[in-house]
Amino acid sequence: MARLSGRQKNMPNLQSQIALENVPKHIAIIMDGNGRWAKQKGMPRVLGHRSGVKSVREVTEAAAQIGVQYLTLYAFSTENWNRPPAEVTALMTLLVETIKGEIRDLNKNGVRLVAIGELSSLPSATYKTLMQGIEETKNNTRITLVLALNYSSKWELTQATRLIAEQVQAGTLKPEDISETTIETMLATRGIPDPDLLVRTSGEARLSNFLLWQLAYAELYFTPVFWPDFGKNELYEAILSYQKRERRFGQTSEQVDQKSS
Ligand code: FPP
Repeated sequence: MARLSGRQKNMPNLQSQIALENVPKHIAIIMDGNGRWAKQKGMPRVLGHRSGVKSVREVTEAAAQIGVQYLTLYAFSTENWNRPPAEVTALMTLLVETIKGEIRDLNKNGVRLVAIGELSSLPSATYKTLMQGIEETKNNTRITLVLALNYSSKWELTQATRLIAEQVQAGTLKPEDISETTIETMLATRGIPDPDLLVRTSGEARLSNFLLWQLAYAELYFTPVFWPDFGKNELYEAILSYQKRERRFGQTSEQVDQKSS
């Protein structure tokens, strides 16, 4: 039997407190703090990202186990190209290594991999491995792991606007027929339900150009924990916090109560 660490021994069994009928269908995560985690330990930033991969694995498995259907991870933003070139290269290499190394386990665990972002501008090795991962896991149904790569909301909304303008110009779409659904079908996330819960690690409380349209009604959860220290118990804590909230979608408390009774 696996030995429990001191911290785990003192931890209440968080998983058992989760109401399985109210698990968020879609959780989106801004994985932040890899660099600071490494610095605190006197290690190079890249080792922070490597440790972050362990959290990706643990959180994906824990999310699947409790019935989360979609998990979206902000792995590389459009703005991340501005980092030192060596760090960008290391991140791209890490992505290739991780996807290659995890395909078997993704399949074993029923994880379907998909990606959102301007993927064609990724380095060719990253792009190829990503496409291979997506192809080889496409029939899995337990959970969908969405990697946001070279993604930003402003890029996505600009693309959507361009597509709509092209259709209007071609005469296949009338301006008066443009609805929220029209826009949704032009987004990179088409077919994926909006996140119910957004988690950001490392104590920062901002959205950083991530899923701005899709997060309109998401519950936001910010934790000081750095991403490499975010594991299954931290995920359960986020879900328990979500389950204590009342989602009103613009209605009054009384209306929400009436609907659920
Ligand atoms: C933010 O921490 C993290 C990133 C920009 C990259 C996240 C990437 C991984 C966890 C590894 C690869 C992921 C997958 C899905 C295989 P930061 O560097 O901004 O930390 P800091 O704010 O402390 O500097």
